Amino acid sequence: MDMSLQSVLQSRLAMAAERAGIDASRASVTPVTDIRFGDYQSNVAMVLSKELKKNPREVASSILSYLEVQDLCEPPTIAGAGFINFKVLNTALSDAVNAIRLDEQLGVVMAPHSKTIIIDFSSPNVAKPMHVGHIRSTILGDSLARISRHLGHRVITDNHIGDWGTQFGKVIYGWKHLLNREALEKGPIAELVRLYREVNALEENDPSLRETVRHELVKLQQGDPDNLKIWEQAVALSWKEFERLYGLLDITFDERLGESFYNDALAPLVERLLVDGTAEISEGAVCIFFKDNPALEEKPCLIRKGDGGFLYATTDLATLEYREKRWKPDSVWYVTGAPQQLHFEQVFAAGRRMGVKTDLSHIAFGSILGEDRKMMKTRSGENVELGGLLAEAIERALSVVAEKNPDLPKGEQEKIARMIGLGAVKYADLMQHRLTDYVFSWEKMLSFQGNTAPYLQNAYVRIRSIFRKGDSEGVNVSLSPIMISDPAERALALKILKFGETLHSVMEDQRPNLLCLYLYELADTFHHFYEACPILKSDGEIRSSRLALADLTAKVLQTGLSLLGIGVPERM
Ligand code: ARG
Repeated sequence: MDMSLQSVLQSRLAMAAERAGIDASRASVTPVTDIRFGDYQSNVAMVLSKELKKNPREVASSILSYLEVQDLCEPPTIAGAGFINFKVLNTALSDAVNAIRLDEQLGVVMAPHSKTIIIDFSSPNVAKPMHVGHIRSTILGDSLARISRHLGHRVITDNHIGDWGTQFGKVIYGWKHLLNREALEKGPIAELVRLYREVNALEENDPSLRETVRHELVKLQQGDPDNLKIWEQAVALSWKEFERLYGLLDITFDERLGESFYNDALAPLVERLLVDGTAEISEGAVCIFFKDNPALEEKPCLIRKGDGGFLYATTDLATLEYREKRWKPDSVWYVTGAPQQLHFEQVFAAGRRMGVKTDLSHIAFGSILGEDRKMMKTRSGENVELGGLLAEAIERALSVVAEKNPDLPKGEQEKIARMIGLGAVKYADLMQHRLTDYVFSWEKMLSFQGNTAPYLQNAYVRIRSIFRKGDSEGVNVSLSPIMISDPAERALALKILKFGETLHSVMEDQRPNLLCLYLYELADTFHHFYEACPILKSDGEIRSSRLALADLTAKVLQTGLSLLGIGVPERM
């Protein structure tokens, strides 16, 4: 059960409203935005005043006359147009944080209904460069999976890799005529990309080659053993390289059902949809029309081309059917860039025509830009490769770590650098509202100041080092129940109490940036507390209470960062 201060206040308020004869269902309490007004507030009186045709301040005062909160706050006040403000008593605040201290979940309440959520993310294309869009999908999807699981949902992560596309005509032709085995061993994806590009260039110069290349694709699709073998190797080699990156990023998938998995389902699916009237033939192609959907009226979903070929949408519909049958999900989340919006609108509308009831969401995101504010590219104008990007992040972090901790053993420095470098890349992405484009900047993301992963990791490290320092100076660093009295302690305690609510707000619109902002504010509030309230230099119960508050802050920081897929070092 949700026992947080906020929800207790809310139910007391609802009871009072009911006694005042007012519809209480909309009595909500939220943290205040301006702490001069107290700690929590409710706008219930303003919300209801219109219906009641009464002055909101009057409504507020009639609710207050029934409100019993002496054990939790100072007498509530009415402010402005009719806000009810609460200032929590230090004793109640202490009780609330102490309850969180003893709670393994740190006050995070499970979602009231555990849902089955399929998260389709990362999904790079084999033998094509993984572009920055895949990077964002990978980081965002993983964090959403972690947070959903943490709140008690059943999550199935599925990497819907693009392992069956027209690119294989080129790859197979290239493999047969231009393959450099040694390069393939060293960097399979790079070599496959090279083959793809080279064949592309050859085709430009010699259009007659196109037919030959296309024929390799047709042969693959018809099950030619040689071509199938090349395809299998290309997929396996690419996957091995992707897996190395996922390992580095500490990301795993429950399933890896790529496009090829659905191959055999496509033809029968299209036939069935034709027979049952969901789809129709139009100019030789098979389409699903959406006649009573104004947005899609002129944008039918194409599921079979005139030449008999199937499309990206056909595979997505087959995938949707498979997922429904196998997992009976409540929701499916597709984490891909904003440019795929129309595709998903069509697939969702087609799915509904097919009778799919599952809640389907396109978790779209914006682009990563270079310093020139154009799509991020390498100097030579190519897509930025995830592998190289991560290596550079770690390398840059290593030089910072080595400079700050020259005495740490090399292996230790490298371990810390990995956490900092990878954390910085992930955080720089997650802290943005997912729909905004952002400029990729090494300096910013690796800075120890500002809203960055290193800043948060450093806040954690600082707390741990208080304990180490105490230990080494022979100070008793044992913890005791927290007693709140100083304003800086109050502020920190109130922040800690918001952790659970923050996770639930992330889920409302799949926005991990809300968690980032929360953690940043938490670290900031901690630093104010640290400056205002001596810890090791204070005595007895005050010291052990403040240590306990610091320790709890560290736990929330660590847990929050882990939900973003970011680790914390013990020193840095
Ligand atoms: N492979 C696709 C791409 O690179 C992304 C796949 C997303 N998932 C899906 N079910 N369509 O754009």
